[in-house]
Amino acid sequence: MRVVALKEHARRLLKLAQSPPNHKFARQSKGSMQKRHRIQFPKGETSHLDQNEAYFFLQEDSGQRKILFHDYDEIYKLPGLYEQIFYDRLKCTSPGKVTSILEAAVRQSQDNLSELRILDLGAGNGMMGEALKNHGVSRLIGVDIIPEAYDATIRDRPGMYDAYYVEDFTRLTEEKREEIRSWQCDCMVTVAALGFGDIPPKAFIEAMNSVKSEAWVAFNIKETFFDRQDDSGFSRMIRELIFSDYLDVYYIERYRHRLSIDGVPLYYFAIACRKTSDIPDEFLELKGMA
Ligand SMILES: C[S@@+](CC[C@H](N)C(=O)[O-])C[C@H]1O[C@@H](n2cnc3c(N)ncnc32)[C@H](O)[C@@H]1O
Repeated sequence: MRVVALKEHARRLLKLAQSPPNHKFARQSKGSMQKRHRIQFPKGETSHLDQNEAYFFLQEDSGQRKILFHDYDEIYKLPGLYEQIFYDRLKCTSPGKVTSILEAAVRQSQDNLSELRILDLGAGNGMMGEALKNHGVSRLIGVDIIPEAYDATIRDRPGMYDAYYVEDFTRLTEEKREEIRSWQCDCMVTVAALGFGDIPPKAFIEAMNSVKSEAWVAFNIKETFFDRQDDSGFSRMIRELIFSDYLDVYYIERYRHRLSIDGVPLYYFAIACRKTSDIPDEFLELKGMA
C-alpha cells in the first residue's frame, strides 16, 4: 500500500517536472478553448445559508446537478468551473489582494518577494500560485488535501508549482514532514481556505512550522473571525496567534473578498505577518483548542 502511494507520488512529481514552464501561455491557450458552463444560483431567499452551505445548479446534457460550494472535488473536475463561479460570477479578488499585501509587507524589509520560496496551503487548482507567479515568484510548493486539486492544477496550470503535495496536514508522517521542510520555504500563504470547515487549526500550525522558523506568512480570513463573539476554534486560534509573540503583523487590510450568491459583498481581512519562531506543539493545548 505504502509503496503504491510512494510510486504514485513519484509519478506525480515526475509529471510536474516534465510540465512546460510557460504556464501563462498554457493557461491562456487552454482558457480561450474552455467552454462556458451553464450554471444557475438558487432563486429566492438564500441569505440564511452559511458560506459553506451555499450551492449552485449545473445544467448538463444529462440534467441538472446541485453542487455545494465546498464540493471542490466535483468543481475541479470540470475545467474552468471553479474560475467561472468564484472569479467571474462572484468576483473573488483574494489571490491578487493577498499577494499585494505580502509584497507590501516584504517591501518593509531587506527581502525580495520574487526570491521567496513559498508554501501555498490549500492551493486548489493554482489560483494563488498564478497570482504569485505574476508577481515574479519563482519557487512555489503547493499543498491540498484532495487529489482533484492536484489533477486540476496539472491540467490547467502545468508547471506552476515546483512540487505539489496531496496531504492531510493533521496527519503528516515524519517522512513527509521532513520532505516538505527540506524545500526550506521562507513564506507560507493560504487563501480562501481558512475556517468554514476547511483547513483546521492543527493543519494551519503544521504548515506554519513547515516553513523556516523566521518566515513570512500571509492569509485571508472572514472579518468576523476577529470578533470575540465568534467563538469557533478557528477564530480563537487566529486571534491567539496574531496577538502572540510568534507573529509580528506587518500589513492588514479589510477588503471585499467576493460576492455572496445574493450579490452581497463578503468582507475579509488580508494579513501579512512575519513569523518569529516555530509554534510549540502544545500551543493549541495550552489555549484549550487541542
Ligand atoms: C476555496 S478553495 C481555495 C483554493 C485557492 N487557494 C484559491 O484561492 O482559489 C479551498 C481549498 O482548500 C482545500 N482544503 C480544505 N481543507 C484542507 C486541508 N485540511 N488541508 C489542505 N487543503 C485543504 C480544499 O480542497 C480547496 O482546494
